[in-house]
Amino acid sequence: MAAPAKLSRPLCCFALLALLCLVESAALGGRSFTADLIHRDSPSSPLRDPFATHSDLVWAAARRSTSRARHIWARLGSAIRYDLTKDNGDYYVDVSIGTPSLKTLLIVDTGSNFSWTQCSPCTNCFDQKPPIFAPGKSSTYKRVECGTGLCNSLARTKCDGDEGRYCVYEIEYEDKSFSKGDVANETFSIGTSGRRETTVESLPFGCGHDNRRKFQKIGSGILGLSGGNPSSLISSMDIGGKFGYCLVPQSRRGSSKISFGEDAVVSGPGTISTRLVSIGPYYIVNLEGVSIERRRFSYGGNSTDSEAKESNEVVPMVIDSGTTLTYLPSRYFRRLKRDIIRLNPSLTRVQDPKEEYEFCFSTPVSLEVPIVTLHFAGRADMTLTKVSIFSLLPERRMTCLAMKEADKVVLLGYKAQWNFKVGFNLGERTVSFKPITDCSAERIDMI
Ligand SMILES: *[C@@H]1O[C@H](CO)[C@@H](O)[C@H](O)[C@H]1NC(C)=O
Ligand SMILES: *[C@@H]1O[C@H](CO)[C@@H](O)[C@H](O)[C@H]1NC(C)=O
Ligand SMILES: *[C@@H]1O[C@H](CO)[C@@H](O)[C@H](O)[C@H]1NC(C)=O
Repeated sequence: MAAPAKLSRPLCCFALLALLCLVESAALGGRSFTADLIHRDSPSSPLRDPFATHSDLVWAAARRSTSRARHIWARLGSAIRYDLTKDNGDYYVDVSIGTPSLKTLLIVDTGSNFSWTQCSPCTNCFDQKPPIFAPGKSSTYKRVECGTGLCNSLARTKCDGDEGRYCVYEIEYEDKSFSKGDVANETFSIGTSGRRETTVESLPFGCGHDNRRKFQKIGSGILGLSGGNPSSLISSMDIGGKFGYCLVPQSRRGSSKISFGEDAVVSGPGTISTRLVSIGPYYIVNLEGVSIERRRFSYGGNSTDSEAKESNEVVPMVIDSGTTLTYLPSRYFRRLKRDIIRLNPSLTRVQDPKEEYEFCFSTPVSLEVPIVTLHFAGRADMTLTKVSIFSLLPERRMTCLAMKEADKVVLLGYKAQWNFKVGFNLGERTVSFKPITDCSAERIDMI
């Protein structure tokens, strides 16, 4: 009688160990991969306007930035009427959809929580560069039924088709653009098509059969990376709630990267982390102060600066992948302008003829750029890189500050994030930044 007991104990231990191993590998596992991001104006972009001068592109970027910033403010400030901003961003990623897969180009948007692409047959479809996805030809395409958790968790869905059996969506834009279609699950490959680690089965998305778009006749839809919803892309992908990007300045060769899972973890010397006070529809952190040339002007806290003492509040700052410029609280913006003039007394101010930029001057032979540091909650100090502070308009021999002023909600645009590895961790509700010399490197050494 004793014998079986003796035998079963190590067996049980073994089983337990195996189980523990399984649990551990599941916790450590998940998907991890990195893909190229394409800036619409980069030399390798299929979307670049070949006839535009550099100055034209810099102006157009500012125009899009202003329009997107306004939409973000409207959406954060008032009742939410629209799901998407008019300009969804300047970074694109190659995505292959379905089986067999069709390669297409989607805008990466950290301010959208729903992904969609145009689908045939089209009641209405806008012009797009890649062919339109045909769900009828894909063996992995599955329409989502009405009344399912997935359908209920999406805003603006209703029941339609086959006596109301299926879930349909409808997204409207402020400029009367829209996308309507079926909510479905499909296999997606993000980045290099067909690489096993980038293939994600059963991702919820909108298959838009009726689409109108007044702008950006390029790409075919949106890859929404906003969190906060159980059916968001980030929560559906088995990536542990982690994603991030590393953006290359436009003047440099090499492509920016987007990473998911462990690839998106930012660590090592120089890393700063701050808490995300919101993960949807926008990623928002608390800005406690800004220092210019090492002099700190903080909200609240211990500042001796009389201007800084005026206000005792922390300012919410949106971290955005789709806005070009950075919008600073007014008094920091004023201070920054003063410091640029103080450091460069012989600058000649000029008016931007298109009035897209607020502070411009004739491009000098050399320019002293002030050190600008953003102080986020949790002692997270981010010193902006010099490449991100100004925009050059070479044909006009003009240089402009790539920042503007804003009240209440301020915004960290993507230019200010150039040369940083940025990592969002939705489980921990943090965002981390680390200065990186070359974001286009295949592997970024984090140690
Ligand atoms: C769609 O995918 C979700 C998980 O991503 C799953 O819960 C749901 O059952 C799927 N629905 C269909 C119709 O495949
Ligand atoms: C997307 O965001 C809007 C606005 O916050 C919200 O009403 C909606 O429920 C969200 N939808 C999804 C799918 O997360
Ligand atoms: C203010 O100063 C005190 C003492 O120097 C310090 O302990 C405290 O952390 C400071 N507070 C802030 C918000 O910096």
